[in-house]
Amino acid sequence: MSSSQPIIQLQDIEKTFLLGDLHIEVLKGVSIDIGRGEFVALRGASGSGKSTLMHILGLLDRPSGGRYLLQGKNIADLPDDRLSALRNQLFGFIFQTFYLIPYITALENVMLPGLYGATPARQLKRRAEELLSQVGLADRLHFRPGQLSGGQQQRVAMARALLNDPQVLLADEPTGQLDSATSAEIMALLKSIHGQGRTVILVTHDAATAEFAEREVLLHDGLVQNR
Ligand SMILES: Nc1ncnc2c1ncn2[C@@H]1O[C@H](COP(=O)(O)OP(=O)(O)O)[C@@H](O)[C@H]1O
Ligand SMILES: [Mg+2]
Repeated sequence: MSSSQPIIQLQDIEKTFLLGDLHIEVLKGVSIDIGRGEFVALRGASGSGKSTLMHILGLLDRPSGGRYLLQGKNIADLPDDRLSALRNQLFGFIFQTFYLIPYITALENVMLPGLYGATPARQLKRRAEELLSQVGLADRLHFRPGQLSGGQQQRVAMARALLNDPQVLLADEPTGQLDSATSAEIMALLKSIHGQGRTVILVTHDAATAEFAEREVLLHDGLVQNR
């Protein structure tokens, strides 16, 4: 496999949801290539299909039509358990509403995705501590989410997303709940994660936020507008 091959190739991706006998066509033929190590923003208005597309990109959902080649392999050929394994190995996720578990500490939240793997707990703990200090939370390891600010909670979620050393970080409106100063800090962290050689895919409705990326893909009504 050549290293210049895009890590992700979407060809005419469609997604239709069935609600009773209603067919809701959300993605209507989306084609995008994403290079290894790129920082791409997927921008579009609310309802344009960004989150649906992100779920497909991150193997959280399958397309209804079109082809998704991941590292050159058609994911349609892979059974669900292989897809889950690939998802855990290749992708990290952060979301607008952090999705932290409220009754455990920051450190435990970050360790969580590793608990079912083969890594010994002691090593997992060391890695989680390291990641939390990378995101500036070395002094908050034992705080629970409710004892942290929104920006700090998103940092915990970022550390958690990095636990399995993913090649691709998918961020769905990661600053949607944050004030502008805190948003800038989170975007700076996303840039540094990109600087570590990871592919970063940022979903946003906001033009100023999208400018942090190297390239913008504009989504309108289930179709890419700028190709
Ligand atoms: N599971 C679903 N079932 C039915 N419709 C859905 C589902 N998920 C998303 N949609 C519809 O798809 C459209 C795009 O949603 P979404 O991808 O969340 O957009 P965005 O993230 O750009 O705001 C919306 O009209 C939404 O109602
Ligand atoms: Mg969305």
